[in-house]
Amino acid sequence: MEYGRFVSYVENENQIIMQFENRQVILEFLKEDVFNIFVPLWSDSHRSKAVEEKKSVPVRINADYKNKELLLETERLSVRIQDGFYMDVYDSRRRLLLSDYRGERKTGAAISSGEMEQLAAEGHDTSHLQKGSYQVQTVKALEKEDAFYGLGDKSGFLNKRDYEYENWNSDIPQAHTEDFHALYKSIPFLICKKKNGAYGLFFDNTFHSYLNLGKESEAYFYYGADDGNLDYYFLGGETLKDIIGNYTWLTGTTPLPQRWTLGYQQSRWGYVCAKDIQEVAETYRSLKIPCDVIHLDIDYMDAFKVFTWNEKDYGKPGALFEELKTKGYKPVTIIDPGTKMEPDYFMYEEGMERGYFATTEDGDVYVNVVWPGEANYPDFGRKEVSDWWGAHHKFLTDMGVCGIWNDMNEPASFKGPLPDDVVFYDGERKTNHAEIHNVYGHFMAKATFEALKEQTGKRPFVITRACYSGTQKYSTVWTGDNQSLWAHLQMTVPQLCNLGMSGFAFCGADVGGFGADATPELMCRWVEAACFSPLFRNHSAMGSRRQEPWQFGQEVVEISRKYIELRYRFLPYIYDLFYQGEKTGLPVMRPLILHYEDDPQVRSLNGEFLVGEQILAAPVLEQGVVKKIVYLPEGIWYDFWTGERLEGGRYLLRDAPLDMCPIYLKAGSLIPMYEPMQYVGEKPYDTLRILSVPGEGTYEHFQDNGEDYAYRKGEYNLYRFTQDKEGNVATELLHENYPKYDRIIIEPLKDGCIC
Ligand code: GLC
Repeated sequence: MEYGRFVSYVENENQIIMQFENRQVILEFLKEDVFNIFVPLWSDSHRSKAVEEKKSVPVRINADYKNKELLLETERLSVRIQDGFYMDVYDSRRRLLLSDYRGERKTGAAISSGEMEQLAAEGHDTSHLQKGSYQVQTVKALEKEDAFYGLGDKSGFLNKRDYEYENWNSDIPQAHTEDFHALYKSIPFLICKKKNGAYGLFFDNTFHSYLNLGKESEAYFYYGADDGNLDYYFLGGETLKDIIGNYTWLTGTTPLPQRWTLGYQQSRWGYVCAKDIQEVAETYRSLKIPCDVIHLDIDYMDAFKVFTWNEKDYGKPGALFEELKTKGYKPVTIIDPGTKMEPDYFMYEEGMERGYFATTEDGDVYVNVVWPGEANYPDFGRKEVSDWWGAHHKFLTDMGVCGIWNDMNEPASFKGPLPDDVVFYDGERKTNHAEIHNVYGHFMAKATFEALKEQTGKRPFVITRACYSGTQKYSTVWTGDNQSLWAHLQMTVPQLCNLGMSGFAFCGADVGGFGADATPELMCRWVEAACFSPLFRNHSAMGSRRQEPWQFGQEVVEISRKYIELRYRFLPYIYDLFYQGEKTGLPVMRPLILHYEDDPQVRSLNGEFLVGEQILAAPVLEQGVVKKIVYLPEGIWYDFWTGERLEGGRYLLRDAPLDMCPIYLKAGSLIPMYEPMQYVGEKPYDTLRILSVPGEGTYEHFQDNGEDYAYRKGEYNLYRFTQDKEGNVATELLHENYPKYDRIIIEPLKDGCIC
């Protein structure tokens, strides 16, 4: 993309409209430390699905053109622009943050076509080897210490430096490994932590896009896309937390969920009848392992037709749910987009009659194959289609379904990929699959969220597999079809941390692994590691070994109970993190780099994580290992299990037999806890315990009904606890408009955990 010489510029409020010889570029400040670059290659204005409200506050910009350079300054940033649209961005301390790369790119395939043929002959995937320049592209200079985070669910490790990725939502049943370029989600938000300073980049373009973060060259990284505009945001901030704050200010934060959604959840593809579900529900209760949710996979439908019920195996519609509810369960059902092509099936008939399905260029309804066989794809980008789809959820919500799990919405297709030219709409505008693919799941999740909100009046619980930036406003996500492999247990930590850094505070991986067979040891370690994961769902595939804790013997039952109970003890702490996150955009599960930015030890630390700021979890993630090398960052920490005081800023070796997940608490922490129950709502939460860890500290705790939107009208309590050096804890009520706890008990950590 040649821009040519800088010709002129005009200022229009927050916008600087620059004319280069060959192109126009619009730079718009949205805040003192956030700006957008827009090169209209495809449309005159933004067509964002992620940024749904116009975000902009007045910004004082100083613009000055001299010595063939345009200098733009706000209170927080200065941007220097030269001929060829080469741009450099500095922070308020004049540190260079981001710089366009001025040299040549080493484009072109590094491999000959002959070699490519040989690889293909043996069945190797060569699609990702065809490199070159992209229609939409920007190349930025790279420095030795630059580390990268974010990008949603990409496989591999925490630090994305030196890898390459693609954004093209993909249904991947094979074991996810670090050389995969794309999984189910497209979240083109990247955080770069530099030796000094940091910044974020959000590339808001839904077409197939590519990020090469130092693999092609140590001198630069690039972003490219097959089509669309060059439309990206520079997100500044003093800290990584500010950068995430700015990104979620733009694209939305994860809203506070219902409290029960944070409880433990059981699922399996292959609970083939109501009896299977009933047995699972009863066994959890009889073994006294807490559980809030049971998921119904595609088995509950009649011939995998959405919004139908398999009466033969699942009984009278509604009866199973009534029974589950008496035991405190909240049922969640799966809904896939692929709508069976079958005359007389009401969804097919209605969709056809109203023209609601995607079509070929010739106007025929597009057909591919998913679970129900030949199926059609609802065109969710049109409001009337989303409304229609949403309205059909009433069949389920009326029966007592409490949440909806959206799957196969990449969209998945068993008979080859959907061609790029399949016709979809964006509102009234006719477009095609190439543009809509990456937002198909986003549209579906949004439609589901809106329907549940209207039909239940509660905070919707939607889980989606595919999504785009901004979907966090509507849905939690899970990481798709992982497997019962130690490598996948290891991957969940960086994967969920990066999802959290990308705005998706509510995320989880299938506990125990979806495909392949779990072992008792893997199951224990997985429950220990996932006990702090925001979405805590055990799920497995038909044909794999069953994965409820009792399938693996008594020891697994006991260890599962211990950690699931621990989760229920920590419930108010996790709920508080969601309450705060709705305002700040910060995740629940955090890589250490988020709070210890300048500690080089944590730049690529994959095996431990923080929960909020106060808890550090260091689960064992390897087979046969009974000691954990734990890195404690600077400061004083306390061992949760023993109460031992530990100096941070060092590694330590912690005994970690099978039932031990090392957990540490930061000095001065005050952690709210509840007595574990078998499910949320079993008994009233009338007693709050505050686990007090030595040291000065303050903590704010939020209390409300945990279900609806009354808190947004002020129906909640906000407590502030303050601990002094001597360990005295003072309680203040910062906001009071909800029945208070009967008792607040302060429990000093002393010799370790209170459980
Ligand atoms: C997909 C989902 C999985 C689900 C299965 C059957 O593979 O990722 O979670 O169980 O489809 O619906």
